[in-house]
Amino acid sequence: MALTPSYGKILSSNEELFDAQAHVWNHIFNFINSMSLKCAVQLNIPDIIHKHGKPIKLSELLNLLPIHQTKSHSIYRLMRILIHSKFFTKVKISDENDEEGYWLTPASHLLLRDEPSSMAPFLLTMLEPVMTDPWHNLSKWFQSEHQAAFSVAHGMTFWEYVGQEPRFSQSFNEAMASDARLVSAVILKDCKQVFEGVKSLVDVAGGTGTVAKAIASAFPRVNCTVLDLPHVIAGLEGNENLTYVEGNMFESIPPADALLLKWALECWNDEECVKILEKCKEAILGNGGKVIIIDMVVDEMNRDVKGVETQLLFDVMLMVYITGRERTEKEWAKLFIDAGFTSYKITPALGLRSVIEVFP
Ligand SMILES: C[S@@+](CC[C@H](N)C(=O)[O-])C[C@H]1O[C@@H](n2cnc3c(N)ncnc32)[C@H](O)[C@@H]1O
Repeated sequence: MALTPSYGKILSSNEELFDAQAHVWNHIFNFINSMSLKCAVQLNIPDIIHKHGKPIKLSELLNLLPIHQTKSHSIYRLMRILIHSKFFTKVKISDENDEEGYWLTPASHLLLRDEPSSMAPFLLTMLEPVMTDPWHNLSKWFQSEHQAAFSVAHGMTFWEYVGQEPRFSQSFNEAMASDARLVSAVILKDCKQVFEGVKSLVDVAGGTGTVAKAIASAFPRVNCTVLDLPHVIAGLEGNENLTYVEGNMFESIPPADALLLKWALECWNDEECVKILEKCKEAILGNGGKVIIIDMVVDEMNRDVKGVETQLLFDVMLMVYITGRERTEKEWAKLFIDAGFTSYKITPALGLRSVIEVFP
């Protein structure tokens, strides 16, 4: 007689039943967190509170918001969910009548439009309908030959779309530049040693050149080059130690001591990454050169549960839009060996991302 394993009842109590129901509801409506935040940024709520300079009462906020009077009651509800998701806090304004006001948190501070490291451009670009539509095609994509769900939704690859739609291209480039401003500030403060001995650097797929510009200005003796596609580089002008080069990194990369790849390899599959890395290796000048990668190193065993979840969200996001992926250290090491490199060093200095130096 064959033994059938017994796994026990999955829902053994009402508590488990309703926990499970709440879990399912929470995931069904999780997109409301993203969309409520997008709405708050579109209405400039973080900036209005910041400009006010102190916690703002609901009545004061309503006076400053560009909304229809019939919607006044709904702002309280929008703010309530955003307080719950830690984008705003409610603080006591005066002891006399228990008056409270809304104030910013570190997360909403990062969404102020005029802050150099503002994440507002990234948020608004990633939540544009062109970026949210492909999610409705994910299961269709699994059943098709398309490279990414983006192509199922839009009939062309993400890179083709960016090349054809100047308005979206500008918005995407600005989203990348906003992240590049944040990363540049931190690496030039905390990771200066990475650039020691470097006399020339190419930012491969460097977008509109925000990181290269920051490096060129921090190290006036380093010759910096930005390599990116023609529609990204068009019209941009360099200076004494900054040059823009239009090109395709799969074909040729200008020679330099250091080749920087920020948010570049995560956009491509393993085969494509090995090709890019091989081109980088060919471009390294003399001894002592290296590739500097700024990307995520996924560690599912990390105790930072929210951090790991965010890395996995990025991984699926890359699967939906392009051919890219997020990688574990083992997966990175394989790419480096396959492209002919001999060693690497990971410095986890950028939150969920790391600086990875790769040596020939
Ligand atoms: C995710 S963005 C990152 C931009 C920049 N490194 C940053 O982090 O701000 C990827 C960049 O790769 C560029 N790109 C895509 N295909 C490319 C190619 N074949 N050759 C050079 N650049 C390319 C895109 O135009 C885009 O600027």
